[in-house]
Amino acid sequence: MSELFQPLKLRDVTLKSRIAVSPMSQYRAKNGYANNWHLVHLGRFALGGAGLVFAEATAVEADGRRTHGDLGLWEDGQIEPLRPVTAFLEAEGAVPGIQLGHAGRKASERRPWHGETPVTDEDLTERGEKPWSAIAPSAVPYAEGWPTPDEMDEDDIRRVIAAFGDAARRALEAGFRVLDVYAAHGFLIHQFLSPIANHRTDAWGGDALGRRRFAVEVARSIRKQWPESLPLVFRLSATDWIDGGIEPEETVETARALAREGVDMIDCSTGGVGGRERPRRMRIEQGFQVPFAERIRREADVASMAVGFLWDAQECEKIIADGRADMVALAREMLDDPNWPLHAAAQLNADENHNMWPPEAGWWLMKRARLIEKLGLR
Ligand SMILES: Cc1cc2nc3c(=O)[nH]c(=O)nc-3n(C[C@H](O)[C@H](O)[C@H](O)COP(=O)(O)O)c2cc1C
Repeated sequence: MSELFQPLKLRDVTLKSRIAVSPMSQYRAKNGYANNWHLVHLGRFALGGAGLVFAEATAVEADGRRTHGDLGLWEDGQIEPLRPVTAFLEAEGAVPGIQLGHAGRKASERRPWHGETPVTDEDLTERGEKPWSAIAPSAVPYAEGWPTPDEMDEDDIRRVIAAFGDAARRALEAGFRVLDVYAAHGFLIHQFLSPIANHRTDAWGGDALGRRRFAVEVARSIRKQWPESLPLVFRLSATDWIDGGIEPEETVETARALAREGVDMIDCSTGGVGGRERPRRMRIEQGFQVPFAERIRREADVASMAVGFLWDAQECEKIIADGRADMVALAREMLDDPNWPLHAAAQLNADENHNMWPPEAGWWLMKRARLIEKLGLR
């Protein structure tokens, strides 16, 4: 029996498997509004059998977008275009999730294929896209060549915390049933958490407790508007991979503090805070972030999701079976093969007759498989 295909219950939501599609920014929104691209991009993963499908990093305020193409939930008008997405995912058996975030000092960036560098007046000429100014816990640029962000004052901090709560309410109205809060990869919440980006000496910085306060208050603000019955996930960078940055021990404490605020699962990624220089001590290999998901699950007593360089079905099965994480999230492999969960199910003997497929495809594939076998063609 496959462990990867065992259901998982988080609060009142039951996922049919342990497989999530990790949030993937598409940079296709206009003024933060979703369109058919998002429906097809996310919809194909539901048809491919994923248990949980996360929509990309979605900005809680307009200036908190990373690029001009980011999705947004900073105004009520942005709810309606997301409804066809959640309705489709639900109808096809996947639970719709969405990631909420704020870019902080990484705002006003070009799309990856335009260079992942700050937007300048050149973009205004070429694409009609203006640069805008960024905010951050401290007036420290993300990397060399990046503009210096404005240090957030108490009002900015309170406004953004409230914006996360309001965006959660809009996500609920749009039909999402799981929230993932983007507190990783060098975006605003991670900027508060990490001593690399947070140089404050007031109650929002300093020791781990002070640096964690923003994340904790965001969780609290969301929980006020996000129902008790629905799960809340936080994506953390478990380590900055940089001397003087966040270390896994501290992340265990952060996970415990978030769990006390009603966070149900930690989505365990790493890195992203330190600009372009190659972080030290990092070795990328298949499942290289799994040890962090394992540690948080064991030591912080909260569910965890493993992500990063996962593609092999047996490997993912083993992660769940060995109790190293409660879920796995895949990103690039899903782009390569949106039917990955269905193919993984076949490989793990969890779906011998294409029963997990939508019948519109599964019926034909089952017939073909029988014919191939009968004729001895494969
Ligand atoms: C196209 C693309 C867009 C991404 N956008 C986001 C995002 O919006 N939020 C996020 O937390 N991670 C984002 N990521 C990172 C993935 O969610 C994932 O953590 C990372 O790609 C490692 O997993 P993988 O090896 O399965 O791709 C993105 C990755 C890709 C490939």
